[in-house]
Amino acid sequence: MPAKSRKPGRSPPPRAKKQSPHVGWQPDVGRLMPAVEALLKERYLPRRHRHSGASLADVVADALATLSEAFTTERDTLPPAYLSRVDLRAAYLAYYLATGVATAMAVMRGAGLLPLLRAAAVAREGPLAVLDLAAGPATGALATALLVDRETPLSFTVQDTVPGVLRDGRHLIGTLRSDSAVTLRTGNLRDGRFVRAELPTQQDVILLLNALNEWSAPPRRRVGSGEEEARTDRGAELIAKLIDEKLAPGGVVVLVEPATRSGSQRLIGVREAFAGREDLTILAPCTGASECPYARASTTDWCHAEHPWQRPALVVACDRRLGHQRDRLKFSQLVLRKAPLVPAEASAGGARPYRVIGGPMRVEGTIRRYLCGPQGRVVWQGDREALPSGHPIHHVQRGALLQLAGEAARARSGRGDELVLTAQRDDGRSPREDPSGHPKGSPVSDAPERNHGSDDVPGRGPSAAAPARRDKSRGHDGPARRGRPR
Ligand SMILES: C[S@@+](CC[C@H](N)C(=O)[O-])C[C@H]1O[C@@H](n2cnc3c(N)ncnc32)[C@H](O)[C@@H]1O
Repeated sequence: MPAKSRKPGRSPPPRAKKQSPHVGWQPDVGRLMPAVEALLKERYLPRRHRHSGASLADVVADALATLSEAFTTERDTLPPAYLSRVDLRAAYLAYYLATGVATAMAVMRGAGLLPLLRAAAVAREGPLAVLDLAAGPATGALATALLVDRETPLSFTVQDTVPGVLRDGRHLIGTLRSDSAVTLRTGNLRDGRFVRAELPTQQDVILLLNALNEWSAPPRRRVGSGEEEARTDRGAELIAKLIDEKLAPGGVVVLVEPATRSGSQRLIGVREAFAGREDLTILAPCTGASECPYARASTTDWCHAEHPWQRPALVVACDRRLGHQRDRLKFSQLVLRKAPLVPAEASAGGARPYRVIGGPMRVEGTIRRYLCGPQGRVVWQGDREALPSGHPIHHVQRGALLQLAGEAARARSGRGDELVLTAQRDDGRSPREDPSGHPKGSPVSDAPERNHGSDDVPGRGPSAAAPARRDKSRGHDGPARRGRPR
């Protein structure tokens, strides 16, 4: 049972958490929340609750428990077009909208999109064209509106199968950027004619957030003793169509899925489908590996990231009712740019970019973290006592991007071998942070922060220490969520 609903009126007033001095930039959806709360009160608060003193979190608690259960189990418990059900839509607006917007902000900024989007708007001499697909309440559009500066004009096309949720999205965009144009498109992304005829071309940003996992069954599944069965990846087919027909040159596609194995594997499938295309660059999460180390269906590992955020009071209150504490966003991501790869300039000392893909593992006297670099998966390893407690190996968050010097060397591990990069005492000192998003060729880490994650079990990968916990974020820790065919 993931959700513990509390009786209305019993919970203490929620307080949003203050930002810790250890953390750097955090997505802040505070500017959006008054409009979300007003919308919920005006359009969704059932009449009987209006004068009962029940809080918004109380009113949505039961529907939220239903959504949370459905988002974290293998069962197809939600009807198609579930956001057309008013109680479920209200719960989505109260909780998943804020987490989704914050996640999209973290992904876009972390992939270095801010300078790219600014440049695209200048080159266009007009509004930046943003297409948010399977948008729900315009989650991706709202993230873009919060992230880009007010001087950048914006034009949104927002698509979903459910017209009511799109209208909510348009209203919310208007409260943040009343100067932007918003076009709604109701239709099914499975319908090739709709995609071809109704969705605009020459888009600068195309967002598809938390939708591929509802799209279809996973493209690969294990058969018998670990064999793979290939299937058509309809998600990858759609994205190919979007890139080829709807994206402007230099434009970006932002894909976000839950931090589950199945969410990550969907994006890895898409990544593998496009890795060979010379007209595309992968901006995140990959750092140059030709093949994803987790691409094989037999692997028990997956790639996801975490990010601290400013949790709004309404989310804190909903978390209490769900028995969650979603103080960190968790997600799988893939950001592609329609532009050939520009080789990174060599950084001082020959440092290479690495993505942190695992939590700290303490093995005998060592501390180890899995990284993904140009050579694939690498173990970053050092003497636990010798490395200072402020060294990033101890606390940098999963998903952070680092520049590290030194050569990874092959070393024996269990029955096979692995690439090992020795942690240097000064690993934390190189200029690796750029709060504005990283410039080309200069990978950036999110600011180091205390990791409260438990250790991973060596040799098993990111999730090994967290067996089938329930959804603590839209980055679900729980069991894989099955796609719901529509
Ligand atoms: C989990 S919600 C995600 C909404 C939003 N992107 C977000 O991240 O908050 C999935 C959305 O996908 C939409 N959706 C599912 N299948 C679709 C399809 N075939 N065509 C268009 N939208 C679809 C649903 O209506 C729903 O709004």
